[in-house]
Amino acid sequence: MRKKATVIGAGNVGATAAMRLAEKELADVALIDILEGVPAGKALDLTEAGPIEGHDAKIIGASGDYGPAKDSDIVIITAGIPRKPGMSRDDLLSTNMKIMAAVTKEVAAVAPNAILIIVSNPLDAMCHVAYDVSGFPKNRVIGMAGVLDSARFRAFIAMELNVSVENTHAFVLGGHGDTMVPLPRYSTVAGIPITELLSQERIDALVERTRNGGAEIVGLLKTGSAYYAPSSAAIEMAEAILKDKKKILPCAACLSGEYGIHDLFIGVPVKLGENGVEEIIEIKLTDAEKAALDHSADAVRKLVEDIKRLR
Ligand code: APR
Repeated sequence: MRKKATVIGAGNVGATAAMRLAEKELADVALIDILEGVPAGKALDLTEAGPIEGHDAKIIGASGDYGPAKDSDIVIITAGIPRKPGMSRDDLLSTNMKIMAAVTKEVAAVAPNAILIIVSNPLDAMCHVAYDVSGFPKNRVIGMAGVLDSARFRAFIAMELNVSVENTHAFVLGGHGDTMVPLPRYSTVAGIPITELLSQERIDALVERTRNGGAEIVGLLKTGSAYYAPSSAAIEMAEAILKDKKKILPCAACLSGEYGIHDLFIGVPVKLGENGVEEIIEIKLTDAEKAALDHSADAVRKLVEDIKRLR
């Protein structure tokens, strides 16, 4: 049977995610936004690319109508507003929280068995909202952050060593923000840890660039944030689930004591398959790495407290 994926938010990340789903023929796609016409227009445009790209995915756009999302296997949520000049962090959090809650309620009603991939920022906080509102089990609410942060780290490692990106592997754990925890010891080129290949000074520089990866793009684009790599990251997760690949990827998952952390969404390596998060992988961390993860968890916990305060 054909799979169905819904993408909520037909903006830059959402529309590009829909394109990647169709071009990889992973699923039929429903693209939903509050804007009139935009999702239908983008869906039609993507459909008209089908004969050239050679895909037969059915792509439907809808404005405020969640009917096309019915019984989706996967729902990728990218809806939200970007931070505007003069807007405080709390204003952004409060607005995106309301959008995430409204969207999740609609999704849960029409697609009660779906696996949710959350993309909207602030990511870890948005995962908590989606988890609370949907009432879905932990394994079916997953945040996209680590795959993107790790891809950025991998791209920088490949550029630094002039090797294929395909030879690189990297793990970035923790929250999606300044406190993210890149793990050079577990980041490799053809299986060789980068700690054997690069000086500490160069590793620190690549780690710093990874931490600022989102801001670097915003600084260049000026009027928006990254969307090619974020949509690729969300679709790598969707593919692992739709094809039941059992792929190990760093994702924001709700922990229940793993890494000594309870009831908090944070980036850790997980196994993704048809049931969503099928396993949380606990890797050995040094004292410094564990301290960095705890520090990141504290920052996420503070965001979760802010959500409760703003509710
Ligand atoms: N329901 C559905 N769609 C909504 C809603 C809502 N209640 N509110 C806003 N949207 C839509 C907007 O109309 C817009 O089309 O969400 C879309 C967001 O698209 P962009 O502004 O282009 O933002 P984008 O770059 O795609 O980023 C989306 O992903 O990476 C994160 O930080 C990023 O939170 C942001 C999200």
